[in-house]
Amino acid sequence: MKNTPIPYDIVKQKIKESNLPNVGRASIRELVRLVNEIEAATGIKYVRMEMGVPGLEPSELGINAEIEALKRGVASKYPMIDGVPELKKEVARFVKNFINIDVNEQGCIPTVGSMQGAMAAFLVTNRCNVKKDTVLFIDPGFPVQKQQLHVLGMNYETFDVYNYRGEKLRDKLESYLQKGNISTILYSNPNNPSWICFTDTELQIIGELANKYDIIVIEDLAYFAMDFRKDLSKPGEPPFQPTVANYTNNWLMLISSSKAFSYAGQRIGVMVISNQLYKRKYPDLKRYFTSEEFGYAMLYGAVYSLSSGVCHSTQYGLAAMLKAANEGTFNFVETVKEYGEKAKIMKKLFTDNGFKIVYDKDEDKPLADGFYFTISYPGLSGEELLEELLYYGISAISLAITGSERTEGLRACVSQVQRSQFPDLEERLKRFNEDHKNS
Ligand SMILES: Cc1ncc(COP(=O)(O)O)c(C=O)c1O
Repeated sequence: MKNTPIPYDIVKQKIKESNLPNVGRASIRELVRLVNEIEAATGIKYVRMEMGVPGLEPSELGINAEIEALKRGVASKYPMIDGVPELKKEVARFVKNFINIDVNEQGCIPTVGSMQGAMAAFLVTNRCNVKKDTVLFIDPGFPVQKQQLHVLGMNYETFDVYNYRGEKLRDKLESYLQKGNISTILYSNPNNPSWICFTDTELQIIGELANKYDIIVIEDLAYFAMDFRKDLSKPGEPPFQPTVANYTNNWLMLISSSKAFSYAGQRIGVMVISNQLYKRKYPDLKRYFTSEEFGYAMLYGAVYSLSSGVCHSTQYGLAAMLKAANEGTFNFVETVKEYGEKAKIMKKLFTDNGFKIVYDKDEDKPLADGFYFTISYPGLSGEELLEELLYYGISAISLAITGSERTEGLRACVSQVQRSQFPDLEERLKRFNEDHKNS
């Protein structure tokens, strides 16, 4: 039996009991359960990098505003589907202040997280034109969005952007768009899982092609303002969060409060629809909705069907945080910079011990340090690496489940790892490297 930091026989046994056909390809939640069980059986804490849960406390501003709203009695009242006016106002200001894009309050719609935002978006964008019934993912990406399309019985196509950065993106995208079946392009920026950030050249290409082929772009800003190479924290001042909205009117943004505001538990995000797209009429929408207007179909068709609005008090909580951010009294970016600082140290611990960073560049620039990074180890596939690391008390997910073609890679999330665990991480990585470097 091998001598590993976590008792070999227990890990082996727990993997067997999990009944997972292939641990190396397990979903995030399956890995969470498995690691919980190993931790309980051994009493040894893992360096947990499998799940993207915020590891920071939210601002008191949000919590207090929610408490006040509850005391005012909002709990017994259904919220308006399009959101409370205070929130809509602050979202529109926020989009202007931090993205430098003008949008009407009408197009700022709260959703139950960006998760619900994506589900609602698919219900409409994929039905605007009877001939266009397929979503194109610029991958790697967030696996649950593909699950949403499966559940909806809708089609998607995908490619890994790794080899198509910069100008190369144009031909690759056109090879899909020319076929005529793509309704929507979706990507996250910064990207989960690779943390690549699209450059303005790339966003411009996406925007120009969205115009040429009349495609709607869903820009998933789950990690809003978290490219820490730039200071995106000052309202109304450049630099701003880069966006495709500078190059096309066919956009819809999903802004999540989960990571940038550490508000994941309250399940609120916002969908922001461009003024032109909101008003645009697509006769084919009448197949599913009472109106052919995009915004109307989204609000009273899709969003209404999914949840009749978003938790009333939480809307006030987010409104309060956005208001303070807009007024420059709450620097939310400063708070989450901790992720970037931890990533820098953790990436070095991995690379000092024989690991490689898989996605390592934005065109010619080194990648930013942020919420996630990607790793591989020479000679091991991603699936083998994931399973092997479990014996060393380190958990991550395989890039293979994210639409990445880099099947040697894993995604590591920094958020749940405490700085006090860095010595453990270093020690375990050293052991791992010693045990594997010549095999
Ligand atoms: C790329 C991406 N999109 C969407 C989401 C969902 O965000 P929310 O918590 O707002 O539903 C996540 C969450 O991890 C994500 O990584």
